[in-house]
Amino acid sequence: MKLEDDLKALSNPEVIQFIEDNLTTPIPKLILKGSPFESISINFLANQITGKNKARKKLPTWSKNKSIVYPHKVNLEQTSSEITANHKSKLVSGEKLIDLTGGFGVDDFYFSKRVNQLTYVEINQELFEIARQNFHAFTFTNIECHHTDSIDYLKTADFKYDWIYVDPSRRNKNQKVFLLKDSLPNLLEHQKLLKKKSINLMIKTSPMYDIEMGYKELSGIKELHVVSVKNEVKELLWIIDWRAKNSRIMKLFNYDSFKKYSYQKIKPNFISNDTISYSESKKYIYEFNSSIMKSGLYDFLACKYNLSKLEKSTNLYTSDLQLVSFPGKIYQVESVNSINFKNLKKEYKGRFVNIISKNIKVTTDKIQKKLNCKIGSDMDYLIFTKTIEGNKVIKATRL
Ligand SMILES: C[S@@+](CC[C@H](N)C(=O)[O-])C[C@H]1O[C@@H](n2cnc3c(N)ncnc32)[C@H](O)[C@@H]1O
Repeated sequence: MKLEDDLKALSNPEVIQFIEDNLTTPIPKLILKGSPFESISINFLANQITGKNKARKKLPTWSKNKSIVYPHKVNLEQTSSEITANHKSKLVSGEKLIDLTGGFGVDDFYFSKRVNQLTYVEINQELFEIARQNFHAFTFTNIECHHTDSIDYLKTADFKYDWIYVDPSRRNKNQKVFLLKDSLPNLLEHQKLLKKKSINLMIKTSPMYDIEMGYKELSGIKELHVVSVKNEVKELLWIIDWRAKNSRIMKLFNYDSFKKYSYQKIKPNFISNDTISYSESKKYIYEFNSSIMKSGLYDFLACKYNLSKLEKSTNLYTSDLQLVSFPGKIYQVESVNSINFKNLKKEYKGRFVNIISKNIKVTTDKIQKKLNCKIGSDMDYLIFTKTIEGNKVIKATRL
């Protein structure tokens, strides 16, 4: 069965219905049964069911469109979410944008609303065919699709794009990678070409990519965005404007939902030499959100908020004052004690509580076993951590 036949499948209402009816059927059971349609492979149908289920959360707009074709789940894992794609699109404007790593086309869905002409390039034929068909299903008219090596394609352009966007593949020879030198295409080998062919460049890297390494490897950085969704870092976005001087401006975003997010901007000249103070736990404990933690600027921000730190390597902060707006979690301290698992077990056996383990050797799993407690509670927390007074357990309520 050819991809061509599979791609036509979603014009058949019976196939659409089959997918809808089997959204909760276990995939191995479905594969075993085989395809009820002569010209459509069961693998294709299984991909559609897995894809649609995954898309509900990550790509809600896409999952509502019944004509959308989903690729294999490995490719779907590599796509941006709608929240992060929308974030990126707000950074671009102008006449021409080229996406050198088009993939499933989620980023381009949003970019295409912000520029007049968008060029999608993808080396993988199946993904290319799927994305092209999906752009059609969304009735986009300003996206031009090319199935080729984007570096070769870029070499042929005799003008500068307003924006080049690259989200390099983090799979290389079936291995998961996160360094730029290992990702595909290897942008570090093509920086001169990228500079020649663009006014602005946006590079998305893995949350695992080291920020200092980025500042060393890349040039022309105007700003870095650290984008988290529900307190998990999803993307580092390196915004390059070849006309600007290198800068260390960082913008830290933490999205709760599509429209609701918190944001901090840090300008390098505002990074003071204030050194963080250390203190035993006071009335409130503060834990910064993941974007701030990734930025490495937590101590700097803690000084700004007048917070003290519980210990040099414990990234928890404290104060007797309750901050009204803080980019992260706030806990109200009830008590601070030395750790005595025997006593804690007497108190918590069978009870629901949340456990945090910070800068201390025992894992939350081990602690749970020792206490024989249940995990979960709206507000009650036990924080096991190293403080300047040694290892402690802090009973606290999340505010
Ligand atoms: C991380 S995915 C991009 C996902 C995309 N941003 C999205 O949201 O759907 C990277 C893609 O780059 C493609 N790719 C890698 N090297 C390429 C090259 N030299 N030319 C064109 N595409 C390439 C891979 O096949 C893969 O689909």
